[in-house]
Amino acid sequence: MKILFYAAKTYDQKSFDGVLPRFPGIEIEYIEEELGPRTALMAENVDAVCAFVSADVGAATLDVLAQRGVRTILMRCAGYNNVDTQKAKELGIAVKIVPGYSPEAVAELAIALALAANRRLYKAYNKVRENDFSLKNLRGVNLFGKTAGIVGTGKIGAAMSRICRGFGMKVIAYDVYENPSLKDFVEYVSLDELLGRSDLISLHCPLLDSTYHMIDIEAIKKMKDGVIFVNTSRGALVKTDDLIEGIRLGKFLGVGLDVYEEETGNVFNDRSDEIMEHSVTARLLSFPNVIITSHQGFYTMEALEAIAETTLQNMMDAAKGERTGNDVA
Ligand code: NAI
Repeated sequence: MKILFYAAKTYDQKSFDGVLPRFPGIEIEYIEEELGPRTALMAENVDAVCAFVSADVGAATLDVLAQRGVRTILMRCAGYNNVDTQKAKELGIAVKIVPGYSPEAVAELAIALALAANRRLYKAYNKVRENDFSLKNLRGVNLFGKTAGIVGTGKIGAAMSRICRGFGMKVIAYDVYENPSLKDFVEYVSLDELLGRSDLISLHCPLLDSTYHMIDIEAIKKMKDGVIFVNTSRGALVKTDDLIEGIRLGKFLGVGLDVYEEETGNVFNDRSDEIMEHSVTARLLSFPNVIITSHQGFYTMEALEAIAETTLQNMMDAAKGERTGNDVA
C-alpha cells in the first residue's frame, strides 16, 4: 500500500517513519508540494494521499485524484473544512481524519496565548533583552476568579475547560450539544450570554457554514470591555476586519491567535525576506495587545506521534474497506 504524502516537513517524516515499522505493508513517499488541483497529478500508482490543513481538497483536486485511481484521502489533522466531502462521496473517495489526537496540545497553546497576551510576555521578553527593566505597558489581570467562556466543548474545548477550572476560573460554555463529562463544573449558556459574561473567550468549534464569521463586529460589541480573546480553532470563525475594528475600539485586553483567515499562504513557510503588500497579519501585529502564532496548536511530540499512528491505522482500515468513526466521507 503506497501513500503519497503531500507538504511533508522534516518533523512529519520523523514522526511517520517512527511508527511505520508497526504497519508492515505501508510505503510512504514524502513530497514537499502542497496538494491542490495541479499537484494532484503527481498521485500516480498510489493507494492514498495524505494531506494537511492548508491543502486544497476541493472538487477540482478530487476529480484529478479520482481519475488517477486514488480511493483514499488521509487527512493528518482533525479539521477538514478544506475538503469537499460531498464531492468525495460522489466520487467514492474515502476521507479519513485524525480526531482528538491530543486535545491537550491545542488547549495548552490556547491558555499559553491567553497568558502571553494578558501579561504581554512577548513585550517583556524583548524589553529585558534590551536591558529595559521597567514595567511599562506590562500590566495584566488575574485569571483566578474570572469567567472563562468556551465556545465548542468537544475534545479540545473540554480540555480547555479543565485547564481554566485549574486556574480557579468560573467556566461557562456554548455548544450545540452539551458535553456530559463537563456537567460538574461547566455552565452552558447561549452564545450571547457567553459573550457578555466572559473575561476570557476561547474558540474551539469547527469551521462550518453555521460558524463562519461567528465572531463579527456585532458579536464583539456584545463582549465585555477588557476581554481576552483566543482563537486556536480556524481563522474564518472570526471576521478579521471586524476583529481589527474591535481592537481599535479598545475592546480587548489581549488577543491570541494561532489561526487567522489569511494563514493559508503562510503556514508553514519562512517568508521573513518577503515584502508582504496586503498583509492582514501585519496589521494585526501592529497592535500592542495581539500575539499570533502560526497554526502550531498540534505541534507537540505526543500529538505528532498520535497523528502518525492514527493516520497509518486509517490506511490499514481503508485497505480492508472498513469504515470507522474517523471517516468523514
Ligand atoms: P470536536 O469535534 O471534538 O469538538 C467540536 C465541538 O464544536 C463539538 O462539541 C460540536 O458540538 C461543537 N460545535 C459544532 N457546531 C457548533 C456551533 N455552531 N457552535 C458552537 N459549538 C459548535 O473537535 P475538537 O477536536 O475539539 O477540535 C475543535 C477544532 O479545533 C477543530 O475543528 C479544528 O478546527 C481545531 N483544531 C486546531 C488545531 C491547531 O493546531 N490550532 C489542531 C486541531 C484542531
